[in-house]
Amino acid sequence: MKIAIASDHAGVTLKSEICKMLLDLGHEVKDFGTYSAEARVDYPDMAFLTAESVAAHKYDRGVLICGTGIGMMLAANKVQGIRAALCHDQFTALLSRRHNDSNIIVLGARVTGMDVAKEMVKAWLVEPFEGGRHSIRLQKITSYEQKPNTMLNAGAKGGRTIVFDHPLVRHKLAVLRDKATAPKDFRELVKEITSLMVYEVTRDLPVKEEVVETPLKQTTVFKLADSKIAVVPILRAGLGMLDGFLSLVPNATIGHIGLYRDPDSLKPVEYYSKYPADITTSTVFILDPMLATGGTVKEAISMLKKIGVKSISVISIIAVPQGIDTVHEAHPDVDIFVAAIDENLNDYGYIVPGLGDISNRLFAAK
Ligand code: RB5
Repeated sequence: MKIAIASDHAGVTLKSEICKMLLDLGHEVKDFGTYSAEARVDYPDMAFLTAESVAAHKYDRGVLICGTGIGMMLAANKVQGIRAALCHDQFTALLSRRHNDSNIIVLGARVTGMDVAKEMVKAWLVEPFEGGRHSIRLQKITSYEQKPNTMLNAGAKGGRTIVFDHPLVRHKLAVLRDKATAPKDFRELVKEITSLMVYEVTRDLPVKEEVVETPLKQTTVFKLADSKIAVVPILRAGLGMLDGFLSLVPNATIGHIGLYRDPDSLKPVEYYSKYPADITTSTVFILDPMLATGGTVKEAISMLKKIGVKSISVISIIAVPQGIDTVHEAHPDVDIFVAAIDENLNDYGYIVPGLGDISNRLFAAK
């Protein structure tokens, strides 16, 4: 194996012993320093060099050592593609391979004795990754790494707001906002944006392992687990998103919720609701393209909870912070997926800059 190794001043002695052992075992070793136990250095410098060379596949694995191991682990894990595991004994070293497919082992020279450290590294190098359910978990880390900081936590209000600002979505949304876009194109764009968002919205759906025969060999594959999915557009504008959702999840069952705003109390009032029979055991996605004050969505969620629905998410195209806060405050267990978060609402309750009255633009109504 080709192995990259590095330490700060606190790990120099252990590093040189491990280097010797690795060379004796027949590995090719690249020592990224540091080389003096007296001259103080900053561990991130060595951690990044080593981690980047492993992530770029110039080396098969890496070994990083500092006083506690903590600093090296923190720095190395900032590099995309790195799974650096701080291990203290054989057990954690082996499990970091079996379950986490660690590609860098991190040691604390002031924590772990020389002999234990050497045995750990030896065993870690040959231990295989188990795959299976662990691959699914690692895949989630990899996906997040490619698109970090998108799961904004609304803080005190609870709940997650996931902004799906993929370039294709942003482009289509730009055309959607343009007042010159005609109803036919407008409808198509709402549909396309929704189906692109479904990719992100369904990221956490459970999958199950199955075995299939390819023309070449038997292999383990992952299919969607038999969980039920229901989609509930809020009338009328939510209907514009329905086809987009169904284009990727064609077997979803469909419910409808109709709410109007009482002119005196300004509170949402139910005028229609119809649900599929198994909605209470389904994962439910509410469709409402404009999350403005949040009052309607908040009420729709309450209606679904009242009949016993447990798992609810909201898919909107544009939201404003006020609407997000209203929903999260009332329903901190509900995730909100949006393509964009706009500035605020004007005096008439329209999202600004927004795209105008979406129902009128979808249905060319006045
Ligand atoms: C160096 O004194 C020490 O801070 C470093 O080796 C490491 O333990 C940091 O996490």
